[in-house]
Amino acid sequence: MARIRHLALAVLLLFYLTGFIECNIRHKRQDDEDEEEDGQSVEELCKDRPPDEYFRLTTTGDCRDVVRCDKGAENGKTRLAGVRCPNSLAFDIERQTCDWKTNVKNCNELEKPRKVMPILKTDEPVCPEGKLSCGNGECIEKELFCNDKPDCKDESDENACTVELDPNRAPDCDPTQCVLPDCFCSADGTRIPGAIEPNQVPQMITITFNGAVNVDNIDLYDEIFNGQRQNPNGCQIRGSFFVSHKYTNYAAVQDLHRRGHEISVFSLTHKDDPKYWTGGSYDDWLAEMAGSRLIIERFANITDGSIIGVRAPYLRVGGNKQFEMMADQYFVYDASITAPLGRVPIWPYTLYFRMPHKCNGNAQNCPSRSHPIWEMVMNELDRRDDPTFDESLPGCHMVDSCSNIQTGEQFARLLRHNFNRHFSTNRAPLGLHFHASWLKSKKEFKEELIKFIEEMLDRNDVYFVTMLQVIQWMQNPTELTSLRDFQEWKEKCDVKGQPYCSLPNPCPLTTRELPGQTIRLFTCMECPNNYPWILDPTGDGFSAK
Ligand SMILES: *[C@@H]1O[C@H](CO)[C@@H](O)[C@H](O)[C@H]1NC(C)=O
Repeated sequence: MARIRHLALAVLLLFYLTGFIECNIRHKRQDDEDEEEDGQSVEELCKDRPPDEYFRLTTTGDCRDVVRCDKGAENGKTRLAGVRCPNSLAFDIERQTCDWKTNVKNCNELEKPRKVMPILKTDEPVCPEGKLSCGNGECIEKELFCNDKPDCKDESDENACTVELDPNRAPDCDPTQCVLPDCFCSADGTRIPGAIEPNQVPQMITITFNGAVNVDNIDLYDEIFNGQRQNPNGCQIRGSFFVSHKYTNYAAVQDLHRRGHEISVFSLTHKDDPKYWTGGSYDDWLAEMAGSRLIIERFANITDGSIIGVRAPYLRVGGNKQFEMMADQYFVYDASITAPLGRVPIWPYTLYFRMPHKCNGNAQNCPSRSHPIWEMVMNELDRRDDPTFDESLPGCHMVDSCSNIQTGEQFARLLRHNFNRHFSTNRAPLGLHFHASWLKSKKEFKEELIKFIEEMLDRNDVYFVTMLQVIQWMQNPTELTSLRDFQEWKEKCDVKGQPYCSLPNPCPLTTRELPGQTIRLFTCMECPNNYPWILDPTGDGFSAK
C-alpha cells in the first residue's frame, strides 16, 4: 500500500516538475546574459552538448540548480538557461528530473556521462560489407552492435541502440509480410485491423489494475465487477489484473480468474529501484516474470496456461532483454509501453516490425529488435479539463498520474472526453489503467467509474474486455453486427457460483531472502514451507548446493 502511494506521488511529482522547469526557464532567461561561467565560455561549455540536456555548473551548493544550452536566442548566440528545483528536492543528472533529495545519488557529478558514438551514417561506406565503424574508426561485424557486450575498443557499439539507431533494429512495417492473425502493424499505428469501417468496430475498453490483490482492494473489484453488468453480447464485463507478489491473496486471485478476469504478471519483487528494471538482465526478467507466473499458477491454482501478459513495474520497459525472455517463456503480450498523446490513438501492434510511435517509456528503453510479442500499447489519456480551451498538457498513462484530476466531476469528464477521442476516430481500444488505492482514495472516483461503465453499457457498441479478448478480436476482426455471436468472447460468459474455498489457508511464512519479515500468503492450496521469493519461487526451500 505504502509503496503504491509512493509511486503515485513520484509520478505526480514528475509531471508537476516538468511544468515547473519549463516555466522557470522562461523567467530566468534574462539573468543569463553573462558570457563567462567559471572561466569557461558558454560556447565552450555548450560544444557538442544536446540543447535539451541539463547539467551543473558546480557541485557545491544544494544540488537544486542546473542549466542547459539554449541555442534559440534571437542574436544567434548560445545562452545558458537555468532551472532550480523546488525546496527539499534535488536535480538528478542521470534521470534529468527533480526528485526528493534522498533519491538523487549524483549531486557530485556535473553532467551525464558522455558516450562515444559509433560512426553509422557516412556518405561512402567506411567499412567492408557487413561491418560497421566504431567511434574510433575500427570496423566490426554489424551483428556485434547492441548485443549488450562492448566489442569496439571504445565500447561505442553499445551506445547507439535506440529504436531508431540500433543497426540490427526491426525493419519498418511491411504490410505485405505482416498479416493477421500473427502479425499486425501499420505505418503510423492508427490503422484498424481487417480494414473494418470505424462505425462497425466495437469500442473496446480495457480496465486494468496494477499491484497486489488483497483485502485493501478485493471489495473494490467485487463492486465494479459485480456479476450484474453485462456487455452487449450478454457476457459479464471483464478486467485485467497485473498482479505483483508481495501481500497478494492468492485465493482472491483464484476467484478473479474463475470469474473470467485476466490475470497477468507485474513482477515478483516489484523492487523500487527503477534502474533495476531498465537495466535488468535476461535472468532478472526471467526470475521476476516467469517466477511470478509460477507462484500465481501454483497458489491460485491456475492450470489453464492463461497467464500470458507482462507489465513492467513503474512501466520501466527492459528493452530487448525483457522481450527475448518473454518470447522464450511463451508470454504473448507486454502492456508497459506508452504512446505519446496524439490526435488519433494507436492500436495494439506486434513487435515483429518496428514500433510505430516514439519510445515514450520512462527511461526510453523500448525494444529495438524484432520480437514475436504483442504490444498492448498504453495510449496516454488527454487530461485537459476543458479540451476546447485548455492549452496542451502532456498526456498521462495511469489514470492516477493525471495529477490534475482532483474531483469526481473532473474524473467523469476525463472518462467521457477520452472515450469520445477514441470512439470518434479509429476506435482503438481505450485503456483505463488504475491503482486500486487511487480509486479508493475518494468515494466519488469509484462512483463515477461505475456510472461511466453503466452509461457505456446502455449503448450497444461498447465492450469491457480483457487484454486477451482485444487480441482475439484483432486476430479475427468482426463487425459489430455479428459480434454477439463472436465465439472467442463467449468463454466463461456468465459465471455464477461460489469461490473454490471459503476459508483459505492463512499461511504465515518467512524466507531467508526477507529477513525479519513474516508475511501471510492466503491460498486455497497447501501452505509452502517458506514465503516464495525470487530465489525460491515455489517456497519449497533453497536447494542444497
Ligand atoms: C486445482 O485445479 C485443478 C484443475 O483445475 C482441480 O482439479 C483441483 O481440484 C484444484 N484444486 C484446488 C485445491 O482448488
